[in-house]
Amino acid sequence: MRIATIGAGAMASALGSGWIAAGHEVLIGGRAPDRAAALASRLGPGASSGTLRQAAAFGQVILLAVPGEDAVEAVRAAGAGDAFLSGRVLIDCSNAFAPDAFLAAPGSFALGLDAVAERVAEAAPGARVVKAFNMCAAEVWSAGPRSFDGRRLAVPMCGDDPDAMHIVAGLVSDLGLHPVPGGGLDRARYLEAMTVFVMGLWFAGADARATLPPLEAAVAVPD
Ligand SMILES: NC(=O)c1ccc[n+]([C@@H]2O[C@H](COP(=O)([O-])OP(=O)(O)OC[C@H]3O[C@@H](n4cnc5c(N)ncnc54)[C@H](OP(=O)(O)O)[C@@H]3O)[C@@H](O)[C@H]2O)c1
Repeated sequence: MRIATIGAGAMASALGSGWIAAGHEVLIGGRAPDRAAALASRLGPGASSGTLRQAAAFGQVILLAVPGEDAVEAVRAAGAGDAFLSGRVLIDCSNAFAPDAFLAAPGSFALGLDAVAERVAEAAPGARVVKAFNMCAAEVWSAGPRSFDGRRLAVPMCGDDPDAMHIVAGLVSDLGLHPVPGGGLDRARYLEAMTVFVMGLWFAGADARATLPPLEAAVAVPD
């Protein structure tokens, strides 16, 4: 599959390298051609680079990997207004943390912008937007086999287009991860909010996983 990125940073690198290893072609799209080319060169055979519009033209699937606050501007620069992204599967992995989130006291993470995935979908008519990969750090996505306590790491995903969800689920599996459909794109705002809450726990030194019971103990099932 041809996969392009909008953005040439840590997430484009982490996910791009895994998809190349799985046999996909990856074009790193960046607003700064030298930075996109440098990342493509680091990723090696299977990677190329180009402008944001070239990324939109190349990718059957496009990973939007820019700060959440810049997501709408970036898809516009990729030609969303000229229908360049129409029909494309657009994976939004962004988070829009408040600008000082990493500087603030642990546990006080906040969103600077809500419902980013819905804003992206509105700015990119015809694009089949799927929110995914925003919950864990780039280092997690790029690190070897991603199994913890004998279970593959799960990736919640939200989107409206069943075919796009199926394609992204395949790309999740290609990375050795477990796709978990989480409903339509109107649910992505909760995934974005959950991420900022979990990040707050992690940065406060609390184990967010410990807050969740296993499925069989999660809810009372009436008999
Ligand atoms: N890093 C993580 O651990 C992680 C994990 C999960 C989700 N995320 C989310 O994934 C997204 C990308 O994160 P990242 O760590 O890859 O960020 P990053 O390393 O800082 O890279 C961001 C990329 O976005 C580009 N960019 C910024 N504004 C842009 C604009 N207006 N138009 C076009 N390109 C623009 C930057 O281009 P320049 O190089 O030209 O500045 C850079 O290539 C963010 O929303 C982040 O919250 C990150």
